[in-house]
Amino acid sequence: MDAIDVLKTRRSVRTYKGEPVPAKIIEDIIDCGRLAATANNGQPWEFVVVTDPDIRRKIATITDYGKFIADAPVCVVVLCRDTKYYLEDGSAATENILLAAHAHGLGSCWVAGDKKPYAGEIGRLVGAPQGYKLVSLIPMGYSAESPEKSKRPLSDVLRWEKY
Ligand SMILES: Cc1cc2nc3c(=O)[nH]c(=O)nc-3n(C[C@H](O)[C@H](O)[C@H](O)COP(=O)(O)O)c2cc1C
Repeated sequence: MDAIDVLKTRRSVRTYKGEPVPAKIIEDIIDCGRLAATANNGQPWEFVVVTDPDIRRKIATITDYGKFIADAPVCVVVLCRDTKYYLEDGSAATENILLAAHAHGLGSCWVAGDKKPYAGEIGRLVGAPQGYKLVSLIPMGYSAESPEKSKRPLSDVLRWEKY
């Protein structure tokens, strides 16, 4: 797939086949995360890759809309140092990870972290140091579904020169 196809065909995937994801592929996906745009090149992110089923189950239980994390072979926990632009930076890294996963033939889904009451608890569970914020959780694995999503048409959202 070329880059534009990757961008246009990524959809959130919440059911996964059981087969494990090779470590080299996970590393490449995280590599794409660390290369995201970041305010003042601050790069405040840390990425914790959780494959341990017990920890994934615990994370899943703590979340409200992330129960499917229990069934994903991998869950990437995106943490950021609490800087002025941590949320923008962590979100840019998260989107890069979703797209890289899709380019590698994996399905993934952004599960909310920031602003959630469970953010601190998940941070502690994965050993995040004080002062780090949970931005997102990204379960991923080989897709067991091909979801469609209705999207606002381009003509609805694109305005030239003025609103
Ligand atoms: C900030 C943010 C938080 C999200 N949190 C969740 C979540 O907790 N659980 C979930 O299943 N999906 C979550 N999503 C995924 C959205 O539901 C999904 O991106 C949206 O429905 C559009 O579908 P698409 O990703 O297939 O284009 C989140 C997405 C974003 C950007």
